[in-house]
Amino acid sequence: MPAIVLLGAQWGDEGKGKVTDLLGERVDYVVRYSGGNNAGHTVITPDGQKYALHLMPSGALSPTAMIVIGNGVVVDPKVLLAEIDGLNERGVDTSRLRISGDAHLIMPHHRALDRVVERYLGSARIGTTGRGIGPAYGDKVARMGIRVQDLLDPGILRQKLELVLREKNQMLFKVYNRKALDVDAVVAEYLEYAERLRPYIAETRAMLWDALDRGETVLMEGAQATMLDMDHGTYPFVTSSNPTSGGACVGTGVPPTSITRVIGVSKAYTTRVGSGPFPTELFDDAGQHLRKIGGEYGVTTGRERRCGWFDAVVARYAARLNGITDLVVTKLDVLSGFEKVPICVAYEIDGRRVDDMPMSQTAFHHARPVYEELDGWWEDIGKVRSFEELPAAAQRYVERIEQLCGTRVSVIGVGPGREENVVRHDLLGG
Ligand code: IMP
Repeated sequence: MPAIVLLGAQWGDEGKGKVTDLLGERVDYVVRYSGGNNAGHTVITPDGQKYALHLMPSGALSPTAMIVIGNGVVVDPKVLLAEIDGLNERGVDTSRLRISGDAHLIMPHHRALDRVVERYLGSARIGTTGRGIGPAYGDKVARMGIRVQDLLDPGILRQKLELVLREKNQMLFKVYNRKALDVDAVVAEYLEYAERLRPYIAETRAMLWDALDRGETVLMEGAQATMLDMDHGTYPFVTSSNPTSGGACVGTGVPPTSITRVIGVSKAYTTRVGSGPFPTELFDDAGQHLRKIGGEYGVTTGRERRCGWFDAVVARYAARLNGITDLVVTKLDVLSGFEKVPICVAYEIDGRRVDDMPMSQTAFHHARPVYEELDGWWEDIGKVRSFEELPAAAQRYVERIEQLCGTRVSVIGVGPGREENVVRHDLLGG
C-alpha cells in the first residue's frame, strides 16, 4: 500500500511535472497537497504536445490515474475551471478529478491584497506570483478562510464573505486606496463556479485511505519546493504552505506510516524566482548561458529565473529534511559545454567554513559558496539512455552529488521530453 511523495529539493521549477508524468501511468492516484496556481508544471506528452498546468495535478495527463486536489491546496475556482476547459478542448478527460471540500478558496480580495501588499513593500517585497496565495493561507490560519465546501451552501458562502469583507474592504479602501469589493457580485460569481465544480467536490481523505487499503499507489505531488517551505525554507522569502514531505500528510490526510518512498527532484544546477538569498547565484555569462540553454523563464509568470551552480548544502539539507529515498537530477544536458562545473560543497560565512545550512537568516544572507570544480563535458547527451553511456565527467558529476547528499540518484533528465531520461533505479521498484 505505497504512498509516495514527490517534491522539489531546491527553490522550485525542478521539473517535478515531468517526473509525475513518468510515473503517471503506473500510479492510481496523483494528489496535489500544497500551494495553488502559483505553481507551473510543464509536461510534454509522447505525441509531443506541451501542457502548462498550474492547479491540476500533473497526473491529469495520464489516461488512468485519479487526480485529487487535497485539503492543503488553495483553489482559485476561476483558474481551475479555465484549466479544465483548456484540457477538455484538447481532448483530455478531466472526469477523474476530485477536490477536497476542505481545501480553501482563493477569493478576489486575496488576489487584490497580494498585489497591493507587494507594491507597498517596495524593495522588501517577496516577489510573489501575485495569485493571492499568501493572503488565502493567511485567512486559513486566521480561521476566516472560505472553503470549497462552502460553495455548496449559498447561505454560508454569503455569511462568511460578508464577515470577511467587512475587514478586507476596509483594508483595500482605507489602507491601500483600492476599490472595495461588492459582496453580491462575488457571491454571484462564486455560485456560478459552484455549479460547475459540484461534481468534483468529494471527501478525498477517505478515498485515499480506501485506495491505500486496496493496495493501490498514491502519489502525493508537491508544488513549489523545500527551500520555499514556510517553516524550513528561506523565510520570509517563501511560499505560504509546506511543500516538504511532512506537508504531504497534512495536505492530504494520508498518514506518515503509509509513506514508503520520498522522491526529491533537483536540477543539475539551481534556479530561483522571486527575492531571497541564493548563495550560488551567477551574475555572469555562465548564468546567462544556463538561463538561455535551460529555458529558465517562469511557466506561471514568465519571469526570468535567477540561475546558479548546484548547491550541495541545500541538496543535503533537503535530503535529510524530507527523508529523500531517491533523487531525480533533471536537466543534466544543460551543463554540457562547460569546461569546469563547480558544485557548492560548503559556505563561507563571515570568514568561517560552514558545511550545513546555517541557523540564522542573516548568516544565510552572508553565505558565500565554497566550490569544488569538477571537469565538464562537451558531448550532447540528449540521446543517452544508460548511465554508462554518459561521458565519464558527467558520471563523476552525478556520483559526487550522490556522495554529498547521501542519497542515490535514481533518474537523470537529459532533455525535456518524456523519454529523455536515464533511469538507474525504477522509482516505483526496489
Ligand atoms: P507566492 O507563492 O506566490 O506567495 O510566492 C512566494 C515565493 O515563492 C516567491 O518567491 C515566488 O516566486 C515563489 N514561488 C511560488 N511558486 C513557485 C513555483 O512554482 N516555482 C518557483 N517559485 C515559486
